[in-house]
Amino acid sequence: MYRCQNCGYASIKWLGRCPQCGQWESLVEAQRDTPSTPPQALAQIPLEETVRRPTQLAEFDRVLGGGLIPGSVILVGGEPGIGKSTLALQIAARLAQDAPVLYISGEESPGQIKLRAERLKIAETEQLLILHEHDLEAICEQIRQTNARAVVVDSIQTVIPAGGSAGLGTTYQVGQATFELSQLARAQKIPILLIGHITKAGEFAGPKAIEHLVDVALYIEGGRDSDVRIVRAVKNRFGSTEEIGVFQMTEGGLVEIANPSQFFTERSGPVPPGSVIVPTVEGTRPILVEIQALVAFTRSTFPQRRATGLDLNRVALLVAVIEKHLGAQLSTEDIYVNVAGGLALRETALDLGIVAALVSSFKEKPIDSQTVVVGEVGLLGEVRRVRKLRERLSEAARLGYTRAVIPAGERVELREIELCPVGTLAQAMEALGI
Ligand code: TYD
Ligand code: MG
Repeated sequence: MYRCQNCGYASIKWLGRCPQCGQWESLVEAQRDTPSTPPQALAQIPLEETVRRPTQLAEFDRVLGGGLIPGSVILVGGEPGIGKSTLALQIAARLAQDAPVLYISGEESPGQIKLRAERLKIAETEQLLILHEHDLEAICEQIRQTNARAVVVDSIQTVIPAGGSAGLGTTYQVGQATFELSQLARAQKIPILLIGHITKAGEFAGPKAIEHLVDVALYIEGGRDSDVRIVRAVKNRFGSTEEIGVFQMTEGGLVEIANPSQFFTERSGPVPPGSVIVPTVEGTRPILVEIQALVAFTRSTFPQRRATGLDLNRVALLVAVIEKHLGAQLSTEDIYVNVAGGLALRETALDLGIVAALVSSFKEKPIDSQTVVVGEVGLLGEVRRVRKLRERLSEAARLGYTRAVIPAGERVELREIELCPVGTLAQAMEALGI
């Protein structure tokens, strides 16, 4: 067997040029596979107990579903500079309090990692081992030798498998390294965290290309102008992919935001027109957010339509619904909408809040600062029900809000908060006094 080192194409005879990817002289003779094992009867397979190892970083554990599972591979992806190495070092340091942890860096020297550890005020420990290495065989050897109970590989794109001369960062190389490391994770019964860069050149040899090989795939997201970092799972063999972890990048590394509602709704002074508080739900957790809108007259033939943290198509649809059902003329207005604090949200339950913010700005009438707004908006101008209304309202009550505009037809009883059920957009605007 011959295999292309660039794309993984297999051929029974040697070829000068790979017919799949076009690379010259990339085919090398592949090792014969080990003897095959017979299948097992399902009934005979013992049930394995999964014991999660919490990282003690509660927001990270929440996304994992409770902690790291020994024998699993966890991919942590994100754009360069988002904070992957910072998070990985913080986690490694916490895990090293109990058992040896190996942090393998192909990008930074031990000296650079030491500097970062100083910044992060990571306690000196003999159990956090740093290794600068690219060679996959050497990496595997050191994982076995050090008997590390958890491993970080920063990044998977800098790991070179045996005979890997096709260059760093090809899909084949990244896939091969991931595959071998996941086998080792299983054999050693340890969790291995793989860091993967989302590259500018597209996602060809990036984390996307190895998602199918890992047990858990997490991404760190964050706006360029924001220090908020969201950790989100796109794949989780051991839990839900709905939970998010909320962090803030500070001088001392990533700090958990334990009370996101408070964090995302901090407003001071009188509330200006265009601002409204909406209870959204991420996974199982309700989070209050502030939606801001700016609607301003323009003479341009092509008024601006911009949305940050919200789906622009959804905003455009809501603008059309406002024009049709509230009779507001918005075609001569520039429209900007965003979620304060750098969160990105995709929930139709935000619709009524978006409409309220837009109308509030357009009419230059502020919305009462103690009121929250929630509801999906239909094309006919009707306000529709949302899931988890009770959780949303409880969160609003917890934060001290006193009034909520909600879809009609919901049976929620909550003493702490005055409920204003509305069936249509017009009723909602009336309830809000805008
Ligand atoms: P880093 O973890 O190196 O990103 P990645 O591994 O994803 O490429 O972090 C990058 C940025 O974070 C860098 O611009 C500096 C900043 N940073 C802080 O603000 N505080 C800190 O404590 C650390 C370590 C980094
Ligand atoms: Mg890094």
